[in-house]
Amino acid sequence: MLDIVCPVCRLPLDRQAKVWSCANRHSFDVAREGYVNLLLAQQKNSPSPGDSADSLQARRAFLDGGHYAPMREAASALIGQIDAHRIVDIGCGEGYYTSAFAGPQREVAGIDIAKPAIQLAARRYRDMGWLVGSGAALPVADRSLDLVTNLFTQLHVGEMRRALQPGGHVLVVTPGAAHLQALRAGLFETVQPHEPDKFVGEFSDGFELVHREELTVPIALDATSLRQLLAMTPYVWKARPERRAALEQAPGLQTQGHFVLLLLQRTV
Ligand SMILES: C[S@@+](CC[C@H](N)C(=O)[O-])C[C@H]1O[C@@H](n2cnc3c(N)ncnc32)[C@H](O)[C@@H]1O
Ligand SMILES: [Zn+2]
Repeated sequence: MLDIVCPVCRLPLDRQAKVWSCANRHSFDVAREGYVNLLLAQQKNSPSPGDSADSLQARRAFLDGGHYAPMREAASALIGQIDAHRIVDIGCGEGYYTSAFAGPQREVAGIDIAKPAIQLAARRYRDMGWLVGSGAALPVADRSLDLVTNLFTQLHVGEMRRALQPGGHVLVVTPGAAHLQALRAGLFETVQPHEPDKFVGEFSDGFELVHREELTVPIALDATSLRQLLAMTPYVWKARPERRAALEQAPGLQTQGHFVLLLLQRTV
């Protein structure tokens, strides 16, 4: 069992079928879909933080198309090589990757600040833990996790260090320099390469990089999957509207996924 704690007072939560509560009587209902909302009002930077319902629907439809399946396999294979039983996937979105990390002898929970993400995830993947919450204040006990995964999401390194047991791991998956190159060339006059290693410095205190791998996969988009990708990709909003509109009308696009997988280990 994951050591989930009360987000208000950090005492353990007694998890009953319909409600989770702590000894200080803070209580959190289990939603019909089976998830629990542990996000406190003061942890929200807007009324509906995180990705929107529309963007999450587009993400689900796109990921269901299998375009990123090789990356999911690579991440799962890497996790298979470490001895991780208690795993939290931060910024899990609609659960495509989180669900693949489940397995015998593993307790896996997905956490996302967007309620619509957790609703989608919990409806489809029933036998896992789904929490609305923030990676900036994980509702888990100190040193209670073996692995924290972050795929295309913000990193809160100090909080991961607190939550991991010594020797525990962090998996970060982030876009490589040439990720979706042709798509970005359509959207922007100048394409800035992604900088996948810029995060590594943030882990200098208490972590060491133990594995780094890159993966490039060709992606053939038809008109529908191109529109889904445009709807789920955050930086599309920075493009000039006419460029975006032109891509939305395009019959398709040949591009590539370029992913960098970084595995860091907590040393102290
Ligand atoms: C680009 S999406 C990636 C989703 C998923 N990992 C995937 O790759 O399909 C980023 C996700 O991080 C979530 N998010 C943003 N800030 C967060 C925070 N502070 N804590 C938890 N999740 C957060 C968003 O709601 C969104 O679902
Ligand atoms: Zn409490």
